[in-house]
Amino acid sequence: MFEKLSLIPPDPILKIISEYNEDVRSNKIDLGVGVYRDSFGETPIMSVVKSAESHILSTQKSKAYIGLAGDTIYNKNIQKLILGDIKIAEDRIFTIQTAGGTTSLRVASELLKETSKNINIWVSNPTWSNHIPVLESTNINFREYPYYDMETNTLLFDRMIACLETVPKGDAVLLHACCHNPTGMDPTLEQWKKIIQVMKSRELLPFIDNAYQGLANGLDEDASALRLMASEFNELIISSSCSKNFGLYRDRVGALTVITKNEDSNKKTKSNVLKIVRTMGSVPPDHGAACVGYILSDKSLTQKWKSELDDVKVRLKNMRKELAGSLKNKTNSHDFSHIVRANGMFSFLGITSEQVQALKSQYGIYMEESGRINVAGITMENVSYLTDSITKVLESHQ
Ligand SMILES: Cc1ncc(COP(=O)(O)O)c(C=O)c1O
Repeated sequence: MFEKLSLIPPDPILKIISEYNEDVRSNKIDLGVGVYRDSFGETPIMSVVKSAESHILSTQKSKAYIGLAGDTIYNKNIQKLILGDIKIAEDRIFTIQTAGGTTSLRVASELLKETSKNINIWVSNPTWSNHIPVLESTNINFREYPYYDMETNTLLFDRMIACLETVPKGDAVLLHACCHNPTGMDPTLEQWKKIIQVMKSRELLPFIDNAYQGLANGLDEDASALRLMASEFNELIISSSCSKNFGLYRDRVGALTVITKNEDSNKKTKSNVLKIVRTMGSVPPDHGAACVGYILSDKSLTQKWKSELDDVKVRLKNMRKELAGSLKNKTNSHDFSHIVRANGMFSFLGITSEQVQALKSQYGIYMEESGRINVAGITMENVSYLTDSITKVLESHQ
């Protein structure tokens, strides 16, 4: 039976990981993998998470299933974290806990397909490498809107707007709340206002992927576009992830928040969501969300978490400055200022795939073939070797 299956090539990032692991050069650098690294090159467990874990370990009395919607304390706190002071009537909104942001995206896609077989989900070009596969797994139609110019490393804002102006009424638009992955380039608040205006006039549904809140400019600042949309639209989907901002990658902590027009449609939507959840993987995992719920319910732990998250944000910004500044000095000809203008963990370096290959083979520097780098892979120790190598490759492989 199984011989009928065709071989699916592994995710290219897995190939990069194994090549990097096998590379024996001591000065090798990994800019591929999508996890945060501190200045020692580690992906640490936040100390506030450790405190929450030891509390849970000593107080948890049962491992019985939690409900399909997950932990109510966690859900309430996530709603508050993403919406801040924006008031939405309780009977128009619900949040459920999901196994990471990916499951939330998948549940949301299934929900949208339930609403109409003809709906299209519009995704940015480019977008996170798993967005399209998730939509394809749902068998939902997807289309792309222009987002980023690889030549100039700027947003294709006018073309994005021109495209949105043609999108059929009732379609959904997948937007990155902040720290756009893979470009790191986010619209300004003024640009968000224009996006909202066009989407409202076309009666489009915002489907927001909120995977990096707190990693760009602060928890509230990073939610400002999302909050604007929550106050302007009467229907909205938000997929959140705590993988990055709590460093809980493997514990699979995410959430799906849906805002509906009224109480009746809220009840119906939630019942559909729970049916999808039940058949997709049933109840969510408890541990990570219980930690987040505990941290966000306690003022002092929340303060500690904010401060640890702030360190992450500052380090990312510093590494962006180091990289762009050093490249500017060394190359003297190329413009790398977009790296400083971008947010979060990712940026395009703006080099060709041949140059990416040369960096790997000659210098042991690993990144996605597109030239997307994870700036968290940069440290004060490796930045000089990195920028020397990039400069040499730019000269030798024009
Ligand atoms: C844009 C974006 N959305 C969603 C996710 C999902 O994250 P997870 O499922 O690990 O919570 C990621 C992870 O890299 C991401 O970059």
